[in-house]
Amino acid sequence: MTDLSPPAAPASAPKPPGNLRLLHLTDLHFLAGAGERMLGVDTDQSFVDTLRAALASGPSPDVVLLTGDLVQDPVPSAYRRLRERLRALPCPAYCLPGNHDDPELIEEHLVGDRVLFQSSFVVGGWQIICLDSTIPRLPFGRLGGKQLRLLESLLGQYPERHALIALHHHAVPSGSAWMDTMVLEDADRLFGLLAAHPRVRVVVCGHVHQAIDRMHQGIRMIATPSTCFQFKPLQVDFALDALPPGYRWIELRPDGGIETTLGRGRDIPEGLDFSSRGY
Ligand SMILES: [Fe+2]
Repeated sequence: MTDLSPPAAPASAPKPPGNLRLLHLTDLHFLAGAGERMLGVDTDQSFVDTLRAALASGPSPDVVLLTGDLVQDPVPSAYRRLRERLRALPCPAYCLPGNHDDPELIEEHLVGDRVLFQSSFVVGGWQIICLDSTIPRLPFGRLGGKQLRLLESLLGQYPERHALIALHHHAVPSGSAWMDTMVLEDADRLFGLLAAHPRVRVVVCGHVHQAIDRMHQGIRMIATPSTCFQFKPLQVDFALDALPPGYRWIELRPDGGIETTLGRGRDIPEGLDFSSRGY
């Protein structure tokens, strides 16, 4: 029987004073019904196991950030089950949509209490900006004029704060040809804008189901593994990786510095079907 009990209590190791401790989780791919499987994986259970491993791995988060593909099936039941999971967290959870999500359903069936869906928030000395890079029913990403104008206006709000930008799609090619057909199409416009705002320290994304941490045009670019199945890096065609689900701690320092630690669950999800040829 599926174990959906609440995650274990967090460990009580101290965190450096003044640091903002952000837990990044992404690409949950919740399905319409509890216990349903995608590529052989019970994605609810895999999320619960990954969250439990994350919360047991260090001090409590100040903020949880979820960067899209919250669900695979954009239906109310999937968002409502996720809402129950996120309500049990010890801190606010900020969500943004991925290519499999429906922003209207997020508003209606996921948001509430400390589960939030908003384009910007301020915490500590940092501004966190959450963008919507999705195009309805298409797998690749685009910010477009509306989101880019929003970003420009948000970046004008707090010139004294450091900024983290979160979005679903990867803005720099991952090196996997099949995945890079689904990259952020107008990344050049994004980087053109960011060049005028050196207070942007880091761009965080999901979508690629693998860990990435590199510099691009002076900005740190971070991607985090999925809470369910992983994609093998540097492939021409779709290929699953034999790695457990992952999460990432991102410590944002008052001086604008960033420290990040990648963590993984203990096991590859039970039932993962390595003969899958796509998703
Ligand atoms: Fe995904």
